[in-house]
Amino acid sequence: MRWCLVALKLWCHFLLFVEATTLGVNWGTMAFNPLPNSIVVKMLQDNQITRVKLFDANPDVIKSMAGTNIEVMVAASNDELSSLATDSAAAAAWVRDNVTQYLASNNNGVNIKWVAVGNEPFLTSYNGVYEDVALPALQNVQAALANAGHGNDIKATIPCNADVISTPPPYLPSQTTWRADIASLMVQISQFLNNTGAPFMVNLYPFLSLVLTTDFPLPYAFFNSTSNSIVDGTHVYTNVFDASYDGLVTALTNAGFPSLPIVVGEIGWPTDGFQSANIQFAQSFMSQLANHMLSGTGTPLRPGVLQGYLFSFLDEDAKSIAPGAFERHWGIFNYDGSIKYTLDLSGGVANGVNSSLVAAKNVPYLPMQWCVINPNTDLTQLQANLDYACDHGDCTATYPGGSCSSLTVEGNASYAFNNYYQYNDQDTGACNFQGLAEVTTTNPSTGTCHFFIGLQPTTVSSSTSDVAPFHRASLRTLSLSMMVMLGSWILQL
Ligand SMILES: *[C@@H]1O[C@H](CO)[C@@H](O)[C@H](O)[C@H]1NC(C)=O
Ligand SMILES: *[C@@H]1O[C@H](CO)[C@@H](O)[C@H](O)[C@H]1NC(C)=O
Ligand SMILES: *[C@@H]1O[C@H](CO)[C@@H](O)[C@H](O)[C@H]1NC(C)=O
Ligand SMILES: *[C@@H]1O[C@H](CO)[C@@H](O)[C@H](O)[C@H]1NC(C)=O
Ligand SMILES: *[C@@H]1O[C@H](CO)[C@@H](O)[C@H](O)[C@H]1NC(C)=O
Repeated sequence: MRWCLVALKLWCHFLLFVEATTLGVNWGTMAFNPLPNSIVVKMLQDNQITRVKLFDANPDVIKSMAGTNIEVMVAASNDELSSLATDSAAAAAWVRDNVTQYLASNNNGVNIKWVAVGNEPFLTSYNGVYEDVALPALQNVQAALANAGHGNDIKATIPCNADVISTPPPYLPSQTTWRADIASLMVQISQFLNNTGAPFMVNLYPFLSLVLTTDFPLPYAFFNSTSNSIVDGTHVYTNVFDASYDGLVTALTNAGFPSLPIVVGEIGWPTDGFQSANIQFAQSFMSQLANHMLSGTGTPLRPGVLQGYLFSFLDEDAKSIAPGAFERHWGIFNYDGSIKYTLDLSGGVANGVNSSLVAAKNVPYLPMQWCVINPNTDLTQLQANLDYACDHGDCTATYPGGSCSSLTVEGNASYAFNNYYQYNDQDTGACNFQGLAEVTTTNPSTGTCHFFIGLQPTTVSSSTSDVAPFHRASLRTLSLSMMVMLGSWILQL
């Protein structure tokens, strides 16, 4: 583009990358008060999000995107890998039931473009149980897609944790290798992906490096640092994202796949339940991330627009908090689709555009009433009731560093009682707690501490059952333990 004068360079970047400049989002559904799918889909459209990654193949969620042209990634769970690997008929049935039955018909189909085969199946915490089945499952799924006539337009890949690579001291991306126990497997997988034209998918979490590594330098988690650099030959790294990403590029290059596309499967920053999980850091990280990925600058080894899926679109308050109370607060939107912070997902600075997020519309709130402590009662049973409410609800905002962490014990009880009450659809019996609680129409929220109002139960049954919400969360627990290992090298900075 010779007419691209220096002064117009940014504009030309915009023209060149306009097709590619969209970040996708992960849409997880482990919530006590899920927004109706139709509202979530409207939010996706209003925010011009054109790529969505799912963690399962929930029929209601998939069907809700029919006719939207949103590019959908559906997922097979790790539990399904074994049958997909050993039985090509099972893979064919899986592809039929979870993919092809939804595809385009009269512009009213679902634009499924990707299949995730398992989720982080190579975590060392799994002791290798999926190592023999993940690649055959990937092969069988891609073959089933091809047999169904969709080998070219739908690609399967395996979302990997960043623990599939390893960087020895002195922690230079150029020295990164595959993790020793799966090195030849990763080369085979890369070869398969290179053959089929599917990307390598990796999840990257600078936030976890920060929280799990005591001496991790805060600026290195963000993209605006000029210090905390790693000098690697002619390349300088000022953020852990680029360093991890280029470590993967190095491993792929040394395996013979220097240009295999990489897609970041999950990346984000939570906003509550922990000190560094706050609105300010999340806004900085996500804004900087969007600008970084979409600007075309890329990483030292991969200049250009970077592709990825933000984690996550909405908060999921039914996730396990074993890894940390922040687990329920990864959304760029709150549980009800309200906005947490200003964020320009189009990479504003780079594109000269500054568009803000668009909140959910027509949210079906329950009546504006809350459940709080009745202080004029015998409080001897307070703690037991508080604990019960927290066990059956979500008190993570009251944890140290959280948005409600400065409440009194009575405030804690009100917060917990209200959660329980809202989760139980404001059922009168759910605001009793041995006479300790009462309903009020006065909003008990104070400062940053928001006492929420539940949503009307969705009429369409969700296939996410009572037990399902904690399934993916348990995977994340393991993933976190791996991040400890990954994060430890940063200590040396
Ligand atoms: C996906 O397909 C498999 C195989 O037919 C089936 O057992 C499973 O129920 C499907 N998943 C969903 C969520 O429908
Ligand atoms: C990887 O794919 C590219 C693009 O199709 C091809 O040019 C290259 O030869 C492949 N590399 C290997 C090692 O198969
Ligand atoms: C970079 O962003 C972080 C997070 O908002 C902020 O604390 C820090 O001051 C910023 N650093 C610079 C050099 O602007
Ligand atoms: C975008 O607009 C918001 C709200 O008006 C503002 O806070 C933010 O700094 C702007 N971002 C850029 C990159 O101009
Ligand atoms: C409120 O609950 C949180 C979370 O359990 C706890 O850390 C805090 O100490 C409690 N506050 C009081 C005053 O008991």
